[in-house]
Amino acid sequence: MTKNPKEEKTLVLIKPDGIQRALAGEILSRFERVGLKLVALKFLLPTPDQAYRHYVKNEAEIEALGFRSIEGKKKSGIEVTEEPKLLGKKIIDRLVTFLSAGPVIAMVLEGNHAVAITRKLVGSTEPLQSDVGTIRGDYTIDSYSLADYGDAGRAVRNLIHASANIEEADYEIKVWFEPKEIVNYKNSFDAILYDVNLDGILE
Ligand SMILES: Nc1ncnc2c1ncn2[C@@H]1O[C@H](COP(=O)(O)OP(=O)(O)O)[C@@H](O)[C@H]1O
Ligand SMILES: [Mg+2]
Repeated sequence: MTKNPKEEKTLVLIKPDGIQRALAGEILSRFERVGLKLVALKFLLPTPDQAYRHYVKNEAEIEALGFRSIEGKKKSGIEVTEEPKLLGKKIIDRLVTFLSAGPVIAMVLEGNHAVAITRKLVGSTEPLQSDVGTIRGDYTIDSYSLADYGDAGRAVRNLIHASANIEEADYEIKVWFEPKEIVNYKNSFDAILYDVNLDGILE
């Protein structure tokens, strides 16, 4: 039998800026209130190796990240001359430094279209462009130009990571959780969100 769509899972990280700014509760409540189910959660300090494994599931991902970043920068009116693979490498170095700089919360969320619904709530990568109403749009103000300002450069601080597609989610969940740490349970939303018959609503 094919997998039940209501069991789709995604990986979310509240990055060090989200923890430092005490936004963990606010962020978590956004996912709870939409109807996604929390099935795993931990608070930890990632190692640089774990952060690297999270962002680089294969070699092709380095260049793909560079391409996405170039597209994002163009949308913000920034001219890009860097080659995608080199840019991808640079961003990954910065991401590894950022993600392992302080504690994070890792969680697995489950529900119908969990990956797409979560990405919609999170908003686009650069907070400058993220829509109002999204987590990145509502709670922070970073931009590519500020992240590149000065001599050093850093990762864009956008509070949160969420898997971009189901394949990425399957890979990333394994980076942060053992299978036994993911808990199967019923909550009170299940019946009204998913049951075919509505028995049990009226007394
Ligand atoms: N040009 C850039 N400069 C600095 N940091 C970047 C840049 N592009 C992306 N990042 C960082 O890399 C992370 C991963 O990028 P990507 O997977 O494309 O975005 P998303 O987090 O929205 O899935 C982003 O969340 C952001 O923190
Ligand atoms: Mg991504």
